[in-house]
Amino acid sequence: MQIAIDGPASAGKSTIAKLIAKNLDFVYCDTGAMYRTVTLLAKENQVDYGNESGILELMHDHKIYFVNKTDGQHVYLDDKDVSEVIRTEEITNNVSQVSAIKEVRTELVEMQRKMADNTNIVMDGRDIGTTVLPKAEVKIFLIASVSVRAQRRFKDNQERGIDVPLAQLEDEIATRDYKDSHREISPLKKADDAIEVDTSDMTIEQVVERVTEIVNEKK
Ligand code: CDP
Ligand code: CDP
Repeated sequence: MQIAIDGPASAGKSTIAKLIAKNLDFVYCDTGAMYRTVTLLAKENQVDYGNESGILELMHDHKIYFVNKTDGQHVYLDDKDVSEVIRTEEITNNVSQVSAIKEVRTELVEMQRKMADNTNIVMDGRDIGTTVLPKAEVKIFLIASVSVRAQRRFKDNQERGIDVPLAQLEDEIATRDYKDSHREISPLKKADDAIEVDTSDMTIEQVVERVTEIVNEKK
C-alpha cells in the first residue's frame, strides 16, 4: 500500500506521515528532506541556487540517503548526518528555487519511486499524489491557514533556539507556497482523487485519527 501526503509548508505533513508509518509499520519517506539536502549541497559548495548544471554535477558526485534510527529517520549527505542543518532559515528560504529545477526533480523522483517499489510506504511532499506515486491507494492533502502554520513553525523554531518574528514566518511561508504552487514542473497541487483535510483547528492526534480512518476505508 502507498500513502501519499501532500500539502503546503508546515501543514503537519511530516509529523502525521511519521506517526501513520509508525502505527502501520510502513516505511516513511520525507521527500522535502531530499530537496533540502540538495540545497545544502549547493550552499556548502558555493554553487548558485539557480545554477542547474552546477547543482546536477554536485548531485552526481555526492550521495543522499536515509538511515532509520531509534529516534526516527535521519538524512545523510555522504557520511554526514544533515537532518538538523537542512532546517535552517537559509535552506528553507532557498529550497524552492532548487526544487524548481527540472533535472533535480527528475533525479529525486526516480529515487523516491525506487524507495516505494514493492514496499508499504508513507511518503510526504508536494507532488507525491500527482507525480511520484499517482497510483497511491491513499492520497491526503493536508492544509491549514497561513497564520496557524506560521505559529506552528514559530513554536518549532523556539524549541530549536531560532528566533524569527511571527510576521516574517508568515511572509516566508506564503512566499514559499506561492513559488511551490507556481513552478512549471509538478507544482504543489491537490490530486483530483486526494482527500483534503484542513488541520487548522485539529490536534495532531485528531489528524492521525482522521487519516487512519481514511486508510482503513481503503483497506
Ligand atoms: O517541512 P516543510 O513543509 O517546510 O517543507 P519540506 O517538506 O521540507 O519541503 C521543502 C521544500 O522542498 C518545499 O518548499 C518544496 O520547494 C520542495 N519540495 C518539493 O518541491 N517537492 C516535494 N515532493 C517535497 C518538497
Ligand atoms: O511537514 P510539514 O512542514 O507539513 O509540517 P510539520 O513539520 O510536520 O509540522 C509543523 C509543526 O506543526 C510541528 O511542530 C507539528 O508538531 C505541528 N503540528 C500541530 O501543531 N498540529 C497539527 N495538527 C499538525 C502539526
